[in-house]
Amino acid sequence: RLRVLSGIQPTSGSFHLGNYLGAVRQWVDLQETNDAFYMVVDLHAITVAQDPAQLRENTRISVAQLLGAGLDPERCTLFVQSHVPEHAQLAWVMNCLTGFGEAARMTQFKDKSAKQGTDSTTVGLFTYPVLMVADVLLYQADAVPVGEDQRQHLELTRDLAERFNSRYQPTFTLPKPYIPKATAKIMDLQDPTAKMSKSAASPKGLISLLDDPKLSAKKFKSAVTDTDTVVSYDEEKKAGVSNLLRIHSALSGQSIEQLVAHFEGKMYGALKTELAELYAEWVVPFQQRTQAYLDDPAELDRVLALGAEKAREVASVTLATVFDRVGFLLPA
Ligand code: TYM
Repeated sequence: RLRVLSGIQPTSGSFHLGNYLGAVRQWVDLQETNDAFYMVVDLHAITVAQDPAQLRENTRISVAQLLGAGLDPERCTLFVQSHVPEHAQLAWVMNCLTGFGEAARMTQFKDKSAKQGTDSTTVGLFTYPVLMVADVLLYQADAVPVGEDQRQHLELTRDLAERFNSRYQPTFTLPKPYIPKATAKIMDLQDPTAKMSKSAASPKGLISLLDDPKLSAKKFKSAVTDTDTVVSYDEEKKAGVSNLLRIHSALSGQSIEQLVAHFEGKMYGALKTELAELYAEWVVPFQQRTQAYLDDPAELDRVLALGAEKAREVASVTLATVFDRVGFLLPA
């Protein structure tokens, strides 16, 4: 059994369709045959200012959505990052192995800090990727299911794992990214050259999983396409249509070729209408399951207490080894 680990931020309450298709759906599949650890990363969330009550609420909503999407606490370890203090502790050690320039080259940091300006960019945001490195290495993960935007952070993870292993002694497993191409980068419905993201220019481009499905249907129907009329796949010339085809394919299980044949002689409207229906068929029961978990806070607490306990069993062993190897005096 391979060890699998991944995480998701609780920042916006509702996950979006990119989070689900790019990551969470794979988490659900991978829990069946692997030893899987999944977490809601609240330590990462505070790298930008958060309202405390809202953060707490969003963390619960995030856990409920993960359960609603199909994570099963009997098959995987589901926990909240701040419940496992080893993450912050290993992050410190890894920070001390990371070059300043190396961290400064992270493109997500460059993008986010450029948007925010240096005065509101925190040192936490700068070392965010190193915390992610610690998340992965603590569990000796073999595979990390994420979207394309996290690839560079996983390269940093491998680099730092190798550096630690050669400076001290072999300690960490080198993790591999698990990024299925078809859903690696779901695009914004209004700007199909940009990835779908909660910080999108227009809310019309973002499908939030907890929104009223009627609103999402409207967004699918007003998705930006092109002036051609034939439904065909071309990521460059027909980025909008290709994105809709990829989403359809992920939700319906039909191949792109099958879909292109299916929509032959029909126009974009048919694709959009069918996609909106397909999405509603999935999202309505997802929302019901999520709500059921939100209505049972005691069960949610039970799941998270169990998850934190299982996570700490693994994390504490790795951290103790690391503290020993770097030369910390072990407490008597
Ligand atoms: P986050 O919370 O931004 O996103 C969660 C997951 O969703 C994927 N994703 C997408 N996939 C396809 N298309 C999109 N448009 C899209 N938008 C988001 C992300 O790639 C991610 O897999 N740093 C991470 C969280 C994290 C983590 C970790 C991940 C913290 N520690 C350890 C793996 C391992 C993040 O901010 O993801």
